[in-house]
Amino acid sequence: MGAGGFGTAWSRTFLPEARDRVRILAIADIDATARDRAGTALGVPAERLYASYDRMFDEVDADVCFIVIPPTARLAVVQAAASRGLAVLCEKPIAATWDHALEIGRIVRTTGIPFAVMQNYREQSRIRTLKGVLQRPEHLSVNLIESRFAANYTIETAGGAFRHHIPDAFIYEGAEHHLDQFRNLTGAAADWVQGHQWGTPWSTFGGPTTLSLVIRMATGTMVTYQMNHIERGEQYGWHREFYRISTEGGSVTLDRGNAIRIVRDTPGGEAIDEVVAPHDDRDGHHALIGRFLDWLDGGPPPFSTFDDNIETMALTFAAVEATHTGRRIDVGAKLAAGLATLPPARTGS
Ligand SMILES: NC(=O)c1ccc[n+]([C@@H]2O[C@H](COP(=O)([O-])OP(=O)(O)OC[C@H]3O[C@@H](n4cnc5c(N)ncnc54)[C@H](O)[C@@H]3O)[C@@H](O)[C@H]2O)c1
Repeated sequence: MGAGGFGTAWSRTFLPEARDRVRILAIADIDATARDRAGTALGVPAERLYASYDRMFDEVDADVCFIVIPPTARLAVVQAAASRGLAVLCEKPIAATWDHALEIGRIVRTTGIPFAVMQNYREQSRIRTLKGVLQRPEHLSVNLIESRFAANYTIETAGGAFRHHIPDAFIYEGAEHHLDQFRNLTGAAADWVQGHQWGTPWSTFGGPTTLSLVIRMATGTMVTYQMNHIERGEQYGWHREFYRISTEGGSVTLDRGNAIRIVRDTPGGEAIDEVVAPHDDRDGHHALIGRFLDWLDGGPPPFSTFDDNIETMALTFAAVEATHTGRRIDVGAKLAAGLATLPPARTGS
């Protein structure tokens, strides 16, 4: 489902690399050029390329649906796939609003379909290595995280210009990756968030481009985070984000590349160590698609099931609310109130 901008990476790279485990039977996209391009890449015959996903689901006997359409269109597609009992692996975020994310949860819990979200940034080699360092006993107690995304974009170069005119999309589609990462790096839920989003007169975006958040995690760790789409200086773009983590045992910094610098202040001066993340061309999407397929084959669920990822959604939409109201938003209360409206969780959902 969905063969547009990022669907091209799915059809040219991610799915072909999983071809020993997945056979792509059909593709649906309302855009004929997009679905033809994906059909060619994946060897799907013309009669299995659909403009209507409902027709595709009716005519094709499949096990799983990969959803790569914009989050604004997600709810109806998940509903249609779930009503046919299809497992769903969908691109982040679950949905474009908190209410739709909960509605998808209601569908997942009612039908019991396997459902997971593509949080590929947790599966990057550089992040896995960073997390490995943080699991050393001396770094288990994390006091502070500083993190930034900063890219020198214009409205033309940011990718998918239309989405930069949709209010808050840069938070729930972009910052969402990093908000999920803070949960991953601390192993904790968010407690509260406050922040601000704004634009500058000289940017070409015409709306907010920059976000600044302060987050308290349930462990007491404080996170300061910036997302800047108009950084004319040092670049910390996608896959090169900055993380500096201050722990009981020193500071652990991942700065743009793949090297993690560990510094400990000692009476004799700074003791410096470095760990370099190994190159892994099967990390990210490849790894998470593999975990999802393992689950369908009877293995354990991946980390990004609905029940886990709804916590990232709670933080994300609390961040949106914080920037709109100027108030500190209680993420735990938002999550609890939302989950109270859903049927009970099923094992492994
Ligand atoms: N995980 C990542 O690193 C990553 C990177 C980029 C994008 N994404 C995610 O991928 C998803 C898609 O993003 P994109 O950049 O490809 O968007 P896009 O707009 O470029 O492509 C979306 C495609 O969906 C199709 N579509 C929309 N509504 C449809 C409907 N109702 N029925 C059938 N087809 C429909 C459009 O025609 C288009 O071809 C988003 O959720 C985005 O956040 C994830």
